[in-house]
Amino acid sequence: MPKMAKSIAFGIFLVILTSLCLPSSADDSAYVIKSEKLPTDLNFMPTLGNGHLGYTIFGDAIFMNGVYNGVGGNSRRARLPNWLNLSVASIQYEEWALSIIPDAYELRLKDGYFRWLFAYEANGLQLQLEQRSYPHRYYNRALIYELFVRCTGAFDPLLINLTQKAGSKSEAFDFASSSTDSNHTKRYKTLHGATRQREQPDLQPKSREIFVLFSDDWENEYTIEVPAGEQEFYYRFVITADENEEVAWQEMDEVLKHAPESLFKKHTEEWHKFWQDFNIEIEGNLEMSRIINAGAFYLANSLPSLRTNRPNNPYYGLSPTGLGRGELDADYEGHNFWDTEIWMLPAVAQFNADWADQLFHYRFAHLAGARFNANMTGYRGARFPWESAYTGTEVINPCCPEIAAQEIHISPDIVLSLQQHYPATHNTEWLCSIAWPIAKEVAEFLVSRVQDDGQKYHLKDVMGPDEDHANVTDNVYTNVVVKKALQFASFTRAICASANDLPDVWIDIVQRMHILYDENLDYHPQHLGYKRGETVKQADVILLGYPVQYAMSNTTRLNDLKNYETVTRESGPAMSWSMFAINFLDVNEMEKANLYFQRGYRDYVRPEFKVWSENKVGYEGSANFLTGIGGFLQAIINGYGGIRFHLDGQRSLMVIQKTHFLPTTMGYSINGIKFAKSKFSLAIHKNGTTLKCLEKGDLDIELSLNSQKYAIDADSSFDLDGNVAFLRTI
Ligand SMILES: *[C@@H]1O[C@H](CO)[C@@H](O)[C@H](O)[C@H]1NC(C)=O
Ligand SMILES: *[C@@H]1O[C@H](CO)[C@@H](O)[C@H](O)[C@H]1NC(C)=O
Ligand SMILES: *[C@@H]1O[C@H](CO)[C@@H](O)[C@H](O)[C@H]1NC(C)=O
Ligand SMILES: *[C@@H]1O[C@H](CO)[C@@H](O)[C@H](O)[C@H]1NC(C)=O
Ligand SMILES: *[C@@H]1O[C@H](CO)[C@@H](O)[C@H](O)[C@H]1NC(C)=O
Ligand SMILES: *[C@@H]1O[C@H](CO)[C@@H](O)[C@H](O)[C@H]1NC(C)=O
Ligand SMILES: *[C@@H]1O[C@H](CO)[C@@H](O)[C@H](O)[C@H]1NC(C)=O
Repeated sequence: MPKMAKSIAFGIFLVILTSLCLPSSADDSAYVIKSEKLPTDLNFMPTLGNGHLGYTIFGDAIFMNGVYNGVGGNSRRARLPNWLNLSVASIQYEEWALSIIPDAYELRLKDGYFRWLFAYEANGLQLQLEQRSYPHRYYNRALIYELFVRCTGAFDPLLINLTQKAGSKSEAFDFASSSTDSNHTKRYKTLHGATRQREQPDLQPKSREIFVLFSDDWENEYTIEVPAGEQEFYYRFVITADENEEVAWQEMDEVLKHAPESLFKKHTEEWHKFWQDFNIEIEGNLEMSRIINAGAFYLANSLPSLRTNRPNNPYYGLSPTGLGRGELDADYEGHNFWDTEIWMLPAVAQFNADWADQLFHYRFAHLAGARFNANMTGYRGARFPWESAYTGTEVINPCCPEIAAQEIHISPDIVLSLQQHYPATHNTEWLCSIAWPIAKEVAEFLVSRVQDDGQKYHLKDVMGPDEDHANVTDNVYTNVVVKKALQFASFTRAICASANDLPDVWIDIVQRMHILYDENLDYHPQHLGYKRGETVKQADVILLGYPVQYAMSNTTRLNDLKNYETVTRESGPAMSWSMFAINFLDVNEMEKANLYFQRGYRDYVRPEFKVWSENKVGYEGSANFLTGIGGFLQAIINGYGGIRFHLDGQRSLMVIQKTHFLPTTMGYSINGIKFAKSKFSLAIHKNGTTLKCLEKGDLDIELSLNSQKYAIDADSSFDLDGNVAFLRTI
């Protein structure tokens, strides 16, 4: 191949493109992730999704929300072969064949799609190929592959060879071509599958069914002929899937009615809305800006589309590696963990409060599973499983039953998260219909789980976030979140329940829960018998400061940080470092905070498409690790941005503490902060810190700043000038 000619042609192509769209492209550079080569490990290709379907580009799987296969702890996302893995393998022109090795790969965050490009020029023939792949954000039963061919100088037909490499047959489904009893099978090739195994027979009486429709009836290889002289050519391959055949069929029909541009526009409009609702603008560090944008994008890909052609099916939660992964142990099997509520939800709720509602709704809808778990393990109330999938019963990986037995902090973690989310909407109806039933039943579980020695309440045989220490007594993190959960249960009871004259064991536990504290050393030992200097797996005690927001003196907090920073395993996950950053900010240790902030992302983000790994380069770990992104975004929003949510009596409170400059930037702004149904922006620049109201909801909000009180109106703007701002519902 004349390599020279080819790269020149590609260069021209780029110049034309950028000069055509200069006004927006200057500002979009933080939203284009471009690479000339693929990562050596294709696990680090972008994982895309629309809350209904998800897949990894060039990967071997498509997954559908809520569809799992396998019994008990072997329940994992049920894999469909990746029938969307199409690409142009070669082009034949006259007597020669050209293999297609793309020149560039791009993840376009603003518009929400992945594309790869190829340009060729020789013998008077100029050829440009653009291939796109995306899960449609509005027609969310649909996955789209598109090919655009632009060519000049072809006096013979071009033969384009497409290949489909879907990976091996599905282990999870038995498939058959859909029978003729449906109204529509004549029109589209249709596969009907049912999962082979049920997770838990009492709570899952039937297998999950799925219908997959294909816009074209070919497999493996297909040759397209582009007639001689044709300058523009378009081909698309669409897959739709749903548990309901009619839904999949209608979706296919409606997608195919669209011309390419209007179909694409329906998709990009949804992504534009996402970026309008929330974004973080960074000045002076393009690389960090791209990492932030890609991070927010990857999280959002696993969350439900908010406006769709057909109503969404119930959402089954946000797993650590997202909707587009989850068949392997390395992908957390697509299960839900505390990662959802503690690490991801605080960031996700700022993107859009509806998403937080849907995540909590998943827990609410699985209270029956949590009751089942409590009962099976000899307790009352609702005990959320450490790992949760279709039924909400315990689906811990068979490797590690002791983790499910001991990491009981998951249940109070969920309640703590309900408490911290409430101020975003200050919605009493939600409080009483969703938060209260969960808090109440978790409280009942906790009452049956604690042990009273007459002086104090204790929790034995537990494991805290530090999984290196099993079967301990009075893990401080666990005991504190139990206290917090029971406090919130009491708070919601006062608002939502009529029977307030019950004996108040909840408050008794809040008051007498044993919280280990070493007075001499002024720090919290992690659990009974913990010796200073013992290595821990990840942030545990230090979480008491943030995210738990447990009141303690600054010296204790600083001592906890100093003690545990030296003993936290190097191989720990990214979130630990983000939490060290936030907590060091709170005690004014800027240098340490800045160090940990950078440590919390730099080594975890793969360069090509800014995909996160669970562990640093050099350690094994899961790809598309959304949990790490959640911790990182919290470090920006709640750490450097200083944004915290509290209850103040029955009022909701947002505090903007002292804000800090993000290291290696010239300033930044967080746009779309959600509090009490209103939206704010916070801009932190060398010349000052400005809080603005972007959108005023129907609840009145009062700002206390520098001993003055102000009413918040749409377009209110305040210079915080280093002062702490308190925003309260009235
Ligand atoms: C998907 O297609 C690409 C391009 O043909 C190929 O490199 C990759 O191996 C395919 N993936 C699988 C799982 O076969
Ligand atoms: C392209 O496909 C045609 C028809 O399937 C086949 O004859 C030809 O060998 C293919 N070309 C290449 C380069 O694979
Ligand atoms: C077939 O169409 C009829 C009439 O529109 C409808 O009532 C029926 O539910 C459809 N069958 C299926 C399997 O969707
Ligand atoms: C578990 O449920 C059974 C049946 O409802 C009940 O008899 C039993 O007491 C429950 N166990 C506990 C510990 O509550
Ligand atoms: C935990 O330790 C206690 C003794 O402290 C022991 O009785 C119990 O069996 C242990 N539990 C597990 C699951 O190892
Ligand atoms: C702790 O430090 C913060 C930040 O410097 C300060 O605002 C706060 O007043 C201190 N709290 C106590 C109890 O000393
Ligand atoms: C500070 O500078 C930024 C741009 O760097 C500007 O957008 C903002 O309005 C300025 N803020 C104030 C309070 O002057």
